[in-house]
Amino acid sequence: MLHDAVSQNRTCRRFYENERIDRDTLVDLVDTARLVPSSGNRQPLKYCVVHDPALCARVFDCLSWAAALPDWPGPDQGERPSGYLVILHDKTLVLGELFTAWDEGIALQTIMLAAREKGYAACPIGAFKKKSLSEVLGIDRETLEPDLVVALGRPREEAVIEAMPTDGSPAYWRDDAQVHHVPKRSLDEVLIAQR
Ligand SMILES: Cc1cc2nc3c(=O)[nH]c(=O)nc-3n(C[C@H](O)[C@H](O)[C@H](O)COP(=O)(O)O)c2cc1C
Repeated sequence: MLHDAVSQNRTCRRFYENERIDRDTLVDLVDTARLVPSSGNRQPLKYCVVHDPALCARVFDCLSWAAALPDWPGPDQGERPSGYLVILHDKTLVLGELFTAWDEGIALQTIMLAAREKGYAACPIGAFKKKSLSEVLGIDRETLEPDLVVALGRPREEAVIEAMPTDGSPAYWRDDAQVHHVPKRSLDEVLIAQR
């Protein structure tokens, strides 16, 4: 069952913007994410919760979408995320960059799966304007560093897994019906042969 949940948990970049995710739901996701494993159990991750429509609009302006779809500028009005979690690390608590990145990966996937369970979907965003976003959210950069934005909302797009093309390109694509296709390496390709 977890295999199915992970298979269906594709990145989503278009949402029903009017069906808004509320603050309690976003806080619930953080309440789950705070329980994940952490390197050295330092737990350096902190979260900003964004649900207010006006603030969502200002956060949206800081984000970059879908590098593999250069002709698509990102979700249009009406299909934008209705909430965000910003994952930050507390500089006074970290063990090291790599450890923080490991913790953030675990937190991200946990948030995405928990959101799916509640009928929402997410897009992780690592490409964002850090300075602008910090100003929008009033983040104290002396102690807190924003690393990842999780854009959330009711999913408005279909995404399917495809076999990796023979040229090995990992680029995702959209077909004429606007279905999103994501290539994944096969089990054979990721298993290392051992003696
Ligand atoms: C750490 C991380 C950062 C990402 N940053 C962005 C981003 O800035 N913009 C974006 O549109 N997608 C971003 N993505 C989504 C990836 O493009 C997506 O995971 C990938 O295409 C595979 O699709 P899938 O999540 O459906 O398997 C990011 C994903 C991860 C894990």
